[in-house]
Order: sequence, then structure tokens, then C-alpha cells
Amino acid sequence: MGSIEATNDEEKQPSVLRTGEIGYNKWTRYVCKGVVALVAVCWLVITLGLIPSSGTKLLSKGGKSVPLGVTTPLEYSYLQALEENLAGNWSKKYTSVPHLAGQGKELVDWTSEKFQEYGLVTEVEAFDIYLNYPVENGLRLLEQTKNGSSVVYTASLTEEVLEDDPTTGGDDLIPAFHGYSASGNVTAQYVYVNRGTKEDFELLKSHNVDLTGKVAIARYGKIFRGLKVKFAQEAGCVGVLIYSDPGDDHFQEAKGDKAYPQGPARNPSSLQRGSVQFLSSMPGDPTTPGYPSQGDVERADPHDRIPLIPSLPISFKEVQPILKKLNGFGLNASKIGGDNWVGGLPRFEYWTGPAPHFSVNVYNNQSYDIRPIYNVYGNITGTDSSEGYIVVGNHRDAWIKGGASDPNSGSAALLEIIRGFHHLQLLGWKPRKTIVFASWDGEEYALLGSTEFGEKYKSDLQANCLAYLNVDVAASGKTLNIEASPFLNRVLTESLHLVDYPFGGSLYDHYFDKRAKFGILGSGSDYTVFQEHLGIPSVDMGFSSGPEDPVYHYHSNYDSHHWMATRGDPGFKLHNALAKYLGLVALKLTERKVISTSLVAYADELELYFKDLAAKVPEDWLSIPVGGSQRTIADALTSLGTKLETFQSNAHSFDLKAEALQAEWDASDSLPFWKRFALHFKIKGLNYQIRYFERTFLHEKGLKGRPWFKHIVYAAGRDTGYQGFAFPGLKEALDDKDAHAFAKWTRIIRKKIDYLNDHYKN
Ligand SMILES: *[C@@H]1O[C@H](CO)[C@@H](O)[C@H](O)[C@H]1NC(C)=O
Ligand SMILES: *[C@@H]1O[C@H](CO)[C@@H](O)[C@H](O)[C@H]1NC(C)=O
Ligand SMILES: *[C@@H]1O[C@H](CO)[C@@H](O)[C@H](O)[C@H]1NC(C)=O
Ligand SMILES: *[C@@H]1O[C@H](CO)[C@@H](O)[C@H](O)[C@H]1NC(C)=O
Ligand SMILES: *[C@@H]1O[C@H](CO)[C@@H](O)[C@H](O)[C@H]1NC(C)=O
Ligand SMILES: *[C@@H]1O[C@H](CO)[C@@H](O)[C@H](O)[C@H]1NC(C)=O
Ligand SMILES: [Zn+2]
Repeated sequence: MGSIEATNDEEKQPSVLRTGEIGYNKWTRYVCKGVVALVAVCWLVITLGLIPSSGTKLLSKGGKSVPLGVTTPLEYSYLQALEENLAGNWSKKYTSVPHLAGQGKELVDWTSEKFQEYGLVTEVEAFDIYLNYPVENGLRLLEQTKNGSSVVYTASLTEEVLEDDPTTGGDDLIPAFHGYSASGNVTAQYVYVNRGTKEDFELLKSHNVDLTGKVAIARYGKIFRGLKVKFAQEAGCVGVLIYSDPGDDHFQEAKGDKAYPQGPARNPSSLQRGSVQFLSSMPGDPTTPGYPSQGDVERADPHDRIPLIPSLPISFKEVQPILKKLNGFGLNASKIGGDNWVGGLPRFEYWTGPAPHFSVNVYNNQSYDIRPIYNVYGNITGTDSSEGYIVVGNHRDAWIKGGASDPNSGSAALLEIIRGFHHLQLLGWKPRKTIVFASWDGEEYALLGSTEFGEKYKSDLQANCLAYLNVDVAASGKTLNIEASPFLNRVLTESLHLVDYPFGGSLYDHYFDKRAKFGILGSGSDYTVFQEHLGIPSVDMGFSSGPEDPVYHYHSNYDSHHWMATRGDPGFKLHNALAKYLGLVALKLTERKVISTSLVAYADELELYFKDLAAKVPEDWLSIPVGGSQRTIADALTSLGTKLETFQSNAHSFDLKAEALQAEWDASDSLPFWKRFALHFKIKGLNYQIRYFERTFLHEKGLKGRPWFKHIVYAAGRDTGYQGFAFPGLKEALDDKDAHAFAKWTRIIRKKIDYLNDHYKN
């Protein structure tokens, strides 16, 4: 994105804040300096929208606030434009050709043309990424007999071609493989390792199950697949198979449900492709840790971020004959792990193995090279460039030809938002803040496109980006999920009231029916670099699959347009609701005069996280001295607790100050011009401060053992990948039973809260 060139190298919030304050004083002085200033002022008045142009007057109230549950005229026009629903059309287009990272160039061009057609200033940017494409695979079950070994079963590693579903066939299907998996051809005995979590491997070890030189067979679920391979590798395994167990599905053939395409249950041949990169260490190109992959950059050995052992995905139908041979060998899984260790294969007993006479041959041939991937950007330039910009993003690449849910339900929604905003532009609207839309490539392998973008434009993003709004899967089921920085809670909540849930009530009613708050960001999509590396408030949203929904065939050929149109979201109503909602959130961020946030919402969350963790501190830690001083962990906890409470009350008064300024602005029409002008710059100073709030949480040294993750509140779960845990420093210290690390993190957090208490009050 050439247009957002770095303008400011300062990254630390104090200096940037000061720049903002000085700017205000400087301007007031200039105003008193006669003709030159007068010309400048006239220019400013017009360009900053102090006097709305005739077009915007129709649509907006000049950045004024409206009561809860009421749309502004601008928002109303936007929602009207999306009464027409073209999401199904875009879904069909995006799922018509394979579009693995770096492939599907046709869709890059089409996206870029569509962006232009809808009035965006558009650009395609390539990054050069170390990437694997599949060459060949194979999996055979071997039986050792006295006279040698013989193949007793060969898995096809393919998904059944369905007559009803055109993208499940053809000669351009993408084989079963894992992104970033190692090439290899290994033959070994095998062991069932349940989900392949850290705890699962520890349990096997405690029962003296020998994993050295074995192939691990894990079922999907609970943690990111790359960490299953990482833990297997660390346990001495030489290969991994990961399968989709029907026990994880609400609809099952074993319970009498019909399988796709006849019914809602999983098609038994479906298998889950996906990346096995070690997501929680660092996303992005594994050979360019922390810096952009373009041209002739220096490249590092990737192997502490990607596996050394081969792995393959497999269906439950094809793993069953293999797992069955373990019956009676090793340990009875339910005896060592209870129900947690037992899946849902019908008439089947789960055993750990190994079975002495059986082995598998896992053949995985991957071609690695430096290959280009393509991000597409499109922006709508705002009227006030000094107010920064927001980024709205979705990834385009998929593991399969289809990808109707992941990610192209999000791509369809993104295009609908852009179409809605084009409608507003045709009515004469320009946003106050610039809006940048991004169609990322390579998300599936390791959040590649967004991470390289974030690393390249780091200083500009940290200086000018107010928020990042992400949609990956817009619809795979009917339950809206939202995970966000609490900085965005206010605009997220306000917008929920304004959109209908397709199955009755508002999105607000639907969302808060069974939940009390938004979720915690972990990792697994493109918000990661923004929130956790750069300290930019982010949200991830989408309708996900729940107990009543047909099984969603994640990363399988059956995540297709046909599935979406017949089962996932007939009529594309959920796509439409998501587009409406996300567009409104964007407008609420760009249009209001005072940036719409509630710092007390953030303070409340911090308090909650902290209490939750403090309650888990072991009794015998409390008296441990902290650092060199005689103060104990108990004291450190009390002190941090008190500071967080102080911050709650400071945040509250800061919010009141912001509200008062917005109210002044709302009533400022009748003010003499120069008073309105002064108010404008007063608000600008406050907006600067608000924009840098989230950066406070960055700790330059990062988390223990993974310095790329710099946010002290949100990070990818170290041992889970996807799932996030608040205050990861404290959480990991508790997990590691490391009281000193715990004490260290209370100090780091305390300093940040001290900073907030000094700078964000009334
Ligand atoms: C958006 O595009 C315009 C026109 O190229 C450019 O002037 C502006 O800087 C861009 N803004 C961002 C944030 O990319
Ligand atoms: C969208 O798809 C519908 C149904 O296939 C079709 O009738 C309509 O012309 C399409 N509209 C656009 C703008 O592509
Ligand atoms: C090995 O012996 C078994 C019987 O024990 C027989 O069925 C099989 O054909 C033999 N295989 C070879 C390769 O000779
Ligand atoms: C993989 O290893 C097996 C068993 O050693 C062997 O039979 C097979 O030919 C190998 N495959 C390739 C492609 O090298
Ligand atoms: C394995 O454990 C389960 C649960 O404890 C039990 O029902 C089953 O009979 C066991 N199987 C054998 C062969 O011992
Ligand atoms: C992988 O496939 C390529 C191309 O068919 C072949 O040249 C190479 O030897 C294979 N690698 C392995 C490890 O079998
Ligand atoms: Zn995705």
C-alpha cells in the first residue's frame, strides 16, 4: 500500500501524544496571524467538514451523536442499500476456482476490478513467501508377519465426488495436505494421542507409553493443529495423522442423521486440510520473523516455527480401519482419560496402542519455494486525514476450490459493505476518516498477507490506524460470535441494536440471549498482527456453527457454494446481516466527531481478567518475596488490584469528559465560527489521546519466548494457538508454576496501569 507511506517513526505513545498537544497550540497561534492564516482557515473549514457540503448534509449530522437504537440518516441509507442482497452472487464467484495462497490470480484481478467499480482507490501488493504446495501423498497400513510385511489397507486420502455439488469434482481439486508440513516418507508403529494437546502427551508419558519413533494419530479439536504436530515432534514422534472424529458433531450418521449431501451430518469422507505452522510462536512468513518478505530480504531457518516431521489430514472413514488395529493394545483410552479420550466412531473402542504387528507408511511430498502472494487494498479517502484511518479486512485464500464459509462468506460480505458504501458515495458522502479495505492472501498458511502488511507498514499503522475490523468466516452457522478489544465494545454494542437477526429479533437480542460479553481475541485470523503485535484495537466477527446447525465441513471440499446455498445459509441472509452489522460498526468509528469508545468498558474487562487470575494464585505463593524488595506476591496483587480500581474511576471520568465534548459539538451549530473552530481542535487533541490508548499495552520485549507478541493483555494461547487468555504473562507463569515470572508480570502490568492512570483521567 504505497499510499500509506510511513510518516512518523515514533512508536511510543508519550511522544506521539505530545505531538498532538503541541499541534493544537501551534494552530491557535497561526490563526491569529492574518491573511495567510485566514486562507488556511477557510480551506480547513471546508475540508474538515465543519460546514457540511450539501451532499453530506442530506446524509449525516456532521459527526453528531444519536440516541441508542436509532440510526443516523447515513446509517439508514447504508442499510437501505443492503436491502438488495448480492452476497450469493459473490459467493458463487469466489468459490468457482481453486485459490490456495498465491493461486487463483483470476480472483485477485476480479476483486481489484470490483473494488474499483465500487469507487475504491485500489492497489495490489505482492509479498514473496516461503510456501509449500502439495506434490504427492500416500498412506498405507502394513502388517508384519513372519515372512515380512504386507499392505493390508491403502487410504485414498480423497473426498468423495458428489453429483449434486459441482466443486467436489474436476481435475483441479486440491489434495489432502497440511500447509508448512515437512516432506517425508516414514514407516512406523502408531499411537492414538487423543487431541494431541500438551496434557494428552503428558498423560501418555505418565503411563509410560513410548512415543519415540512412532506416528501419532490425533483427532482434531481443542487446539490449533500445528501445535498437535509440535507436541508430537517434541515427544519424539516421526509423523502425524489428524482426523475429524464424528463424536465432535451434533448431527451424526450413528445417531440416524443423514450425511451431506442428503442430510446435516458429516460426509464420512470429509477431511480437514490446514496449516501446521506453530501459530503461537509467531505468524507470518516463517523465514522472515518480524519483518516484511519482499524481494531480496535475509531469510532465517524456519524450523523453530514449522514442523520437521510429516503430517497428513484424514477422514474418519479412512482412519477407522487403522485405529481399529489398536484395539486391545497399549491402554484402554477411556481407562486413562475417561470420556475426554473417547471419540464417536460407532461400535468402536479407543485404545492407545501401539499394536506390535501393525505400522503405517506416511508419505508426504511437498514442494517448497519462495512464491508470491497478493493482497488487494482499496480505500475511500476521508475528509480529515489527520484523524487517521480504519482497516476492514477479510482473507481471500482457501484450502479448497470452494471455501464458501472459510473465507469467502467473509469476502462476499466485504464486497457487500463496499457496495453499500459506494451507494453512500454516490449520494455525496465522504467518510470523516479514511477507510481501507483489505483482501488478504495467505491467511490460511500463517496469516501471511496481513502479517507481512503489518510488519511493513508498522510505523504508519501505529501512528494513524484507529482500528482493525476483521471478518474471516461470515457464516458457517447461525450463532453470531464476536471477539474484540474492549476499546470497540461501545460501537459493537450500539450497532447490534440496529440490525435484525434473520431468525427474529435484533442481533443484540440474539447475541446477548445466552452471553454476557464479547469474547477474548486469541489467534487464527488476520487481526493478530494488528491487535497483538501493533496494539491496534481489533474485532473478529462471524456467524459460527452451533448445535442446531448442519455440520460445517471446515477446510473440506464440502465447504462449497452448494452446501452454503442449500444448508449453511439458504438465501444468504446471514451474509447480509453480517455485512450490515460490520458496515455500521465501521461508520460508527469513522463518522462521530469524538471517537466513540468507552474506556471504562476496557477497565472493567481488565479488572475481571485480573480477579480471575488472582483467584488462581496458589496459597503458598502469596508470601514469596517479589524482586529484591521485601514485598510479597500478596502485596503485588493488592497493589495491582488497587491500581486497576483507580483506573476504573479515571476511565469513567475520562469517558465523561469525552461525552461532554461530544455534547458541546452536538450543540455547536449556533456557536460563533471561531468557538466552533477552537472546539474542533480541542476534540482533535482528545481524539489523538484516544487513538493511542491501546498502544499503552505493548511491551517492547514481548512475551516470554515469543517476542513478536507484544500486547500484555491479548495473545495467541501459547499451548492452544487459537484460544486466547487475557494477561498471557500471568497465565503462562501460573501454568508453568513459575512464581518469579508471575511477580515479574505483575510489575510489567502495574507500570502500564500507572501510565494509564497518569494520562487517561479527567
Ligand atoms: C487512499 O488513496 C488515496 C488516493 O490514492 C491516497 O491519497 C490516500 O493516502 C490513501 N489512504 C490510505 C490510508 O491508504
Ligand atoms: C445475482 O444472481 C442472480 C441469481 O443468479 C441473478 O439473477 C442476478 O442477475 C445476479 N446479479 C448480479 C448483479 O450479478
Ligand atoms: C506370508 O505368509 C502368509 C501366511 O502366514 C501368507 O498369507 C503370505 O502370502 C506370505 N507373504 C509373502 C510375501 O510370502
Ligand atoms: C516410501 O517408503 C516406502 C516404504 O519404505 C516405499 O515402499 C516407497 O517406495 C516410498 N515412496 C516413495 C515415493 O519414495
Ligand atoms: C475399556 O474401558 C471401558 C470403560 O472403562 C470399558 O467399558 C471397556 O470394557 C474396556 N474395554 C476392555 C476390553 O477392557
Ligand atoms: C517428490 O516428488 C518429486 C516430483 O515428483 C520427486 O522428484 C521427488 O523425489 C519426491 N520426493 C520424495 C521425498 O519422494
Ligand atoms: Zn479463514
